[in-house]
Parts: sequence; structure tokens; C-alpha cells
Amino acid sequence: MQLPEPYFTRVFKPVLFILLLSPALYYGVAFWQDQLGANPLEAIIRGLGDWGLRILLITLLVSPLRRVLNWPQVLRTRRMLGLFAYFYVVLHLLGYLWFDQFFDWEEIWFDILERPFITVGMIAFVLLTPLAITSTKGMIRRLGKKWKHLHTLIYPASILAVLHFWWMVKLDKREPLIYAFILAILLGERLFRKVRSTKRYTSLRRH
Ligand code: HEM
Repeated sequence: MQLPEPYFTRVFKPVLFILLLSPALYYGVAFWQDQLGANPLEAIIRGLGDWGLRILLITLLVSPLRRVLNWPQVLRTRRMLGLFAYFYVVLHLLGYLWFDQFFDWEEIWFDILERPFITVGMIAFVLLTPLAITSTKGMIRRLGKKWKHLHTLIYPASILAVLHFWWMVKLDKREPLIYAFILAILLGERLFRKVRSTKRYTSLRRH
């Protein structure tokens, strides 16, 4: 599969950009129009967290999609997707710091240490930060092979993000279970390919 180049850069990517921005616009407008229910700030924090996680998983879908559809162009959406995932996570974190904790740093520190779901959320955020910082073309060039290695941090970050949601929910675990299932498929496929290629390599060396 291959989209004509002008169509990919002038239509596909801008449409994807607008789609990725639309949840943020939705929450902005809905808040403005007072349509977010009895606890709008909680709805915003949760909604931003949901979108951060969803887009993170979509980012992980890009490389299997390239193989399945034989569509190399799709790799060129990965940076945009990853940065949007980070964008939503940063807004989600800001929402928590501001609306939940009113920037009370002592309370925030206590929360990070005392509530496991906040601890793992924070670690996931910390792991994603160098990925966002090193996403520019200059950084990719400068870091060379190390860049690829560094960007494998997306795997533990995604696992911790799902765990964060899993531990946050006390009773009905159905929604985090769906995310966990999708993540297990995305990571399982990678692991399977890695094991297969290592086996092939060792059997080639033996013969
Ligand atoms: C990769 C990073 C993160 C992702 C993907 C993420 C995602 C999520 C998701 C999906 C939810 C559940 C939303 C729902 O109920 O539908 C959630 C809830 C929550 N997250 Fe995160 N999160 C991340 C990091 C953080 C960090 C760093 C903090 C704060 C230090 C945080 C604080 C919270 C809080 C307080 C809730 C519960 C909101 C409420 O009940 O009002 N998250 N997050």
C-alpha cells in the first residue's frame, strides 16, 4: 500500500493532526459550555488520561501496521502520534497538579510515594519524557543507534500506564482490561518476532 506522496503529506497527515487534536478541543469547548457533568475537572483529568493512553497504544500499532499493510509511509506518522500521546499525558498531569492538588508540592510528593497508581503513572511519565525530547530530526541524527535503544522505553512506559489505570480502578476492571489485552497483543507480537529472529540467527550460525 502506498498513498500518492502529495496526498499523504497534504491530506492524510493534516487530517490525522486534526483528529489527534480534537479530544483536546472537545474538552475545551465542553468545559466552556458546562457540559462535563457534576465534576467537570475530574472529567477533564480522566478524559486526557484516556486519550494519552489510547494514542500511546496507537503509536505502538504503527510498526505492525506497516508490516501487515506493507505500508512504509505510515512510519512517518509515528513521531506525530508519540508527541500527541505525550501532549495529552502532560495535560493530564497538569490537571492533576492543578485541580486535584492545587500545586501543593508536599501533598503531591506524599501522593506519589503513598498511592501505587500515582507512583507508576509518574514513572511512566518520566520514561516518556526523554522520548519526547529526543524526537527531533537533529536528535535522531545525533544519537544514531542509541536513539533506537532509548526509544524502547516506550514499552515499559506503556506497561506502567496500563498498570496505572488498572490500579486506579477499584471495582469494574473491564476498561483497563481492554487496554491490557491490546497492549499484550502489541508487545506479544514484537516478542514473538524477536524470539523467532534470534532462533533463526543462532541456527544459521550453527550450520
Ligand atoms: C503515561 C502516563 C499516564 C497515562 C497514559 C495515564 C492515563 C490515565 C488513565 C487512562 C486514567 C483513567 C481515566 C478514566 O478513569 O477513564 C488515569 C487516571 C488518573 N491519572 Fe493518569 N496517566 C498517566 C500519568 C499520570 C501521572 C503522572 C499522574 C499524576 C502524578 C496521573 C494521575 C492520575 C489521576 C489522579 C487519575 C484519576 C483521576 C480521577 O479519578 O479524578 N496520571 N490516568
